[in-house]
Amino acid sequence: MLVIHEPAELKAVIGLAKSRGKVIGLVPTMGALHAGHMALVKQSQSKASFTVVSIFVNPLQFNNQEDLDLYPHNIEDDLKLLRVSKVDAVFAPKRENIYPKKPTILFQFGQFTTVLEGHYRPGHFEGVGLVITKLFNIVRPDKAFFGLKDLQQFFLIKKIAIELSFDIEIEGVETVRDKNGLALSSRNQRLSAEGIKKASSIYEGLKMAEEMFQSGYVIPDIKTKICKYYGSCSGLQVEYCEIIDVHEFVPLETLEAVGRVAICVAAHVEGIRLIDNLYLRLD
Ligand code: PAF
Repeated sequence: MLVIHEPAELKAVIGLAKSRGKVIGLVPTMGALHAGHMALVKQSQSKASFTVVSIFVNPLQFNNQEDLDLYPHNIEDDLKLLRVSKVDAVFAPKRENIYPKKPTILFQFGQFTTVLEGHYRPGHFEGVGLVITKLFNIVRPDKAFFGLKDLQQFFLIKKIAIELSFDIEIEGVETVRDKNGLALSSRNQRLSAEGIKKASSIYEGLKMAEEMFQSGYVIPDIKTKICKYYGSCSGLQVEYCEIIDVHEFVPLETLEAVGRVAICVAAHVEGIRLIDNLYLRLD
């Protein structure tokens, strides 16, 4: 497995792989890898013939300095895991490799920056957009793989690929959960055993919403019931809980004329911010 820090070196390696007919799969990560990331790697290995995993904690997407400072790092463990999985190359740039100067370009994503994650994490998606655009330009992958736990991020990246004419297939990979349903996340490493238990009620609430949805309850009733449930879970502070039209990412009050519907939640447990979602209807 190649471990590369310099963009120019990675470009040369990718150029050679492409000249040999390889299909390049990119799995962008911020490290602290877990089984959710490894599901992305597996998917890339099944759909591409040369998998690159990038590890870069992108400071521009953190709207909270403490969250950035406490973000888990363990590159040696990450490399061990990727070596065992027979990844072809790891791109682990230093901050100055990605941002030699403070970027002056600022993306604007309209609707996306006003709802859910965009609303509660000002600047987050602008930072994600910039780093992903840079990674796409450096790696020039044929396919790129993202976890559906970050549903809004996934749709944003699809939008970037279309609107900026990247010839890259953006693939979403199902959320991996622990035995109690808690969505795997690098941030879970910062929870105590008790916190992990408390956090699993996030998924409980999503499943309750799914049952109510399938039984024909209207959206305001589902929201009221789920908010009440979350309010009764000790140690869980919900930031938002919205039922959305997945294509537009707008919170819904009624189901008229909408296709794909999901419920999205952000909540804090032991001061750690966690997000999760569940599709309620596929179109
Ligand atoms: O989902 C993540 O880990 C990050 O937002 C990403 C896509 C690697 C960009 O930094």
